[in-house]
Amino acid sequence: MAEAAARRGPAITCAGLAKTFGTGPAAVEAVAPVDLTFGAGEMTALVGPSGCGKSTVLRMVAGLETPSAGSVKLDGAEPAALQGAGDLAMAFQDASLLPWRSVRGNVALALKLARRPVELAAVDAMIARVGLAGFEGARPAELSGGMRQRAAIARCLVTQPRVLLLDEPFGAVDELTRARLNADLPALWRAQGTTSMLVTHSVREAVTLADRIIVFSSRPAAVVADIRVPPDLSAETPEGRALVAQVTEALSQGWADDPASGRHAAQ
Ligand SMILES: Nc1ncnc2c1ncn2[C@@H]1O[C@H](COP(=O)(O)OP(=O)(O)OP(=O)(O)O)[C@@H](O)[C@H]1O
Ligand SMILES: [Mg+2]
Repeated sequence: MAEAAARRGPAITCAGLAKTFGTGPAAVEAVAPVDLTFGAGEMTALVGPSGCGKSTVLRMVAGLETPSAGSVKLDGAEPAALQGAGDLAMAFQDASLLPWRSVRGNVALALKLARRPVELAAVDAMIARVGLAGFEGARPAELSGGMRQRAAIARCLVTQPRVLLLDEPFGAVDELTRARLNADLPALWRAQGTTSMLVTHSVREAVTLADRIIVFSSRPAAVVADIRVPPDLSAETPEGRALVAQVTEALSQGWADDPASGRHAAQ
């Protein structure tokens, strides 16, 4: 416990954070200036229409994208300060595993890169935790899309990162497995004191997993709602259903602000 407390995740502060891709008439304003602080050890869900800029926000927090304006600070430090030590982990929408390495090899690599001891028992325990026991030796090409996503989550969690950024990590996972992961994984990152951000298109998932839900408008992403989730709320209770309705309503408000967003409606 003492170790978890000492490794507690940082507060994340976005101040005037904005991103425009390209210049001139072809410029795409992806993120409008955003001012948000994410509390240390909190899990925040980001929801919003497809293409509104959620992944761009996450990539800026990870230090993978340079902001056009404003800043991201993790306990006052640049994102780069947490990289390399295995303190910041991100699972992308497309589960980017190394194709020539087994599941075990991919998960162990995260520990190696973080210069941590590679204990095979811990690696295999994490693989089992995401439901991939028996597939330790499989290569990514031999797995389904959802299995690859789960392997990517195991790779993220094995270093016990202080910051965990999940970009639609359960998109290709079936409902039952998703429900199991939703029930199992939060205990892990809560015990680790991780500061987490989760992009999801599932409002129920946001209500189930998050301490707080940020609803973004259509592009450029601007905050339309900032909603606290009571602890241990289940989406199945009347309170949970009311919150799902509130977030869904905020989402539709964000869409209504931008008549052009209708073209994303099919996604
Ligand atoms: N590297 C890039 N170069 C140019 N434009 C980009 C780049 N990355 C993203 N964009 C644009 O920025 C906007 C926001 O993209 P982003 O990927 O952040 O959306 P998103 O909210 O994650 O969408 P989705 O829910 O579909 O994943 C889009 O219009 C996209 O075309
Ligand atoms: Mg995205």
